[in-house]
Amino acid sequence: MFNMLGNLILSRDLVNPQSVEGSGFFAAMTEVMEASGHPNVADLFPWLKRLDPQGLTKKMDRGKGNTLRIIAEFVAERLEKQQLDGAGAEDFLDVLQESYQNGRDEKATISNHELNIIILELFFAGSETTSSSIEWVMVELLRHPEVMIKAKNELAQVVGKSNKFEENHLKLRLPYLEAVIKETLRLHPPAPFLVPRRAVQDTKLMGYHIPKDTQLLVNAWAIGRDPERWEDPLSFKPERFLGSEIDYIGQNFELIPFGAGRRICAGIPLAHRMLHFVSGTLLHEFDWEVDEISRNDLMDMRGRLGLTVRKLAPLTTIPKRRST
Ligand code: HEM
Repeated sequence: MFNMLGNLILSRDLVNPQSVEGSGFFAAMTEVMEASGHPNVADLFPWLKRLDPQGLTKKMDRGKGNTLRIIAEFVAERLEKQQLDGAGAEDFLDVLQESYQNGRDEKATISNHELNIIILELFFAGSETTSSSIEWVMVELLRHPEVMIKAKNELAQVVGKSNKFEENHLKLRLPYLEAVIKETLRLHPPAPFLVPRRAVQDTKLMGYHIPKDTQLLVNAWAIGRDPERWEDPLSFKPERFLGSEIDYIGQNFELIPFGAGRRICAGIPLAHRMLHFVSGTLLHEFDWEVDEISRNDLMDMRGRLGLTVRKLAPLTTIPKRRST
């Protein structure tokens, strides 16, 4: 996921065995993500904030400093290469610069610092959300072999058994795979409380008084499992989405893994493509097995809260070249 984003945004792999800086970026990002998802006692007792008893602010500051320093180097390298080559790479950085140069956005110029922050934000927002979702897709499919078979059969039929699953296959209709991904995001939204909001003014909502500056969390996880909204809510049943209009683009409030309203995830079209492309490829190209040692971990459905909810006991599974 990291390298998919790296290529899309900066036209390069960021993590590879030869690149120390790429791995450093990944490690620094992980530190920020873990610290930001960790419960902080200073949220309950604000007078503890300055003491930072769990060292979380310190960790965040260190991680933020490191990630920003490394991304600034990546961006500088990429801009330098662009100058040497004389042509744009037609990646996200290009498009971003161009849209500012054209004055299409609110400002006609963007500082390097702002550029670095936007790019850093995309890595934070788009990498672990997508990779943890793929892990949950695979976990649910391995726990429900009959669903895995149906998803593989659909791919074999639409893509062709002897064809590789390519990006252009995403244009074809794969309703069952789509339903599998929706059902996974319903049960395992990577950001279970979305992104915290703050009330900008005193507000009355459904009989509640919400004072100005209250921090508000929307529990998308509970909404996705609400028995008043979903039949048999705890079961993994992609079929519930076949022939249903319910989608995750912010119009159906019972399914909001990407949020809703004006701060809805800005990356939904990209996330949609990445989720379908990667899980489609994994399913179409390989048969999957879990050995006896990893079976207990597969059955353990507890999540671990960081910036996203990842599986506490990471999935270990064996890919086998698919039978033809
Ligand atoms: C499975 C994948 C993803 C999930 C579940 C997800 C989920 C979310 C959620 C819940 C929010 C906050 C929305 C709210 O509070 O209403 C958000 C915001 C955001 N996401 Fe995603 N996201 C995913 C992938 C991506 C990708 C691939 C990108 C781009 C590379 C991205 C970019 C953003 C950005 C920029 C925001 C902030 C939007 C704003 O505040 O205006 N996300 N995402």
